[in-house]
Amino acid sequence: MFNIEDFQKSRQGTFGKELHHFAQLDSTNRVAEELARKGSAEGVLVVTDEQTTGRGRKGNAWYSPPDENLYFTLILRPFEARLHHVPFIAGLAIVRMLSRISIEAELKWPNDVLAGGKKISGLLIQTSIEQNRLQYALLGCGLNVNTHSFPGQLMEKATSIRILKGDGVLREHVLASLLFEFEQLYGRIQEMSWSDLCRQVESASSMVRNCEVVVQENGKTYQGITHGLDPFGGLIVQLPEGRRIFYAGDIQSCRKN
Ligand code: BTN
Repeated sequence: MFNIEDFQKSRQGTFGKELHHFAQLDSTNRVAEELARKGSAEGVLVVTDEQTTGRGRKGNAWYSPPDENLYFTLILRPFEARLHHVPFIAGLAIVRMLSRISIEAELKWPNDVLAGGKKISGLLIQTSIEQNRLQYALLGCGLNVNTHSFPGQLMEKATSIRILKGDGVLREHVLASLLFEFEQLYGRIQEMSWSDLCRQVESASSMVRNCEVVVQENGKTYQGITHGLDPFGGLIVQLPEGRRIFYAGDIQSCRKN
C-alpha cells in the first residue's frame, strides 16, 4: 500500500500536496476528471495502488497490477497556448528523475519514455474544452517501478526500475522526485520558448531528429527520416514523396542515421 506519510515527507514543492489515494480504482484519470470538474486546483493528485481498467493511448489498456508501480493523474490548468508543451515537459521530468537514480532513459515521440529500449512509462493527456476555452488538463502517468516480470508479450516491450536496477525502490520516493522535476519545468512553461523546449526534447530523444523511422498512422505505414518537431509538437518526417507531419501515430522502429 502506498504510504502517504512517506510521500508527503519526501515531497518538495506544491504539486501533490493535496493527494487523493485509493487502494483500487478503474482509472485515476476518471477520478481526476470528477475532481477537476468540481473545481479542484492545479497540482491536485490522484494516486492508486491498482487500476482495474487502466487506460492507455489509442484505447489500449495500461498494465496496472496492485502495489507494484505508479499510476497517477495530476490536475493541471495550463494556458491553452502552452498545452502542447505539457507532454514533452512531463516526459523530460521522467527522464531527469530516472537519471537521478542512474537510469538512462529517452523520450519516444509522442508520449512514451523508454529505458534499455523498452517502455518504462507512458503518458495520457486528457483535456476539457468548454465554450472554446481550456478548462483543465489531466496528466495521467503510468510508471513501471517494481514489476519484475510482465505477462506474455509485454515482457518483450516493457521494463521497470526494478528490472533495470536489479532492486526494488519505494514508489513514494520516486513519485515525490518525479513531481518535483515536473513542477520545476512546468513553473517555467511561460518563459521557456518552444525552440528551447525542442532542444531539450531533442537531446533527450534519439528519434526526433535524423533518425530513420517507420510510422504507423491510421493503419498506414510510412518510412522516412525525422526532422524535429513542428510548432505544435507534430513530428516532421521526410518521406520519399515529401515532408509529412504526424500528430499521432506510433514509431515502430528507428535507426540512427
Ligand atoms: C500509454 O502509453 O498508452 C499511456 C498510458 C497511461 C497510463 C496511466 S496510469 C495512470 C493514468 N490512469 C489511466 O487510466 N491511464 C493513465
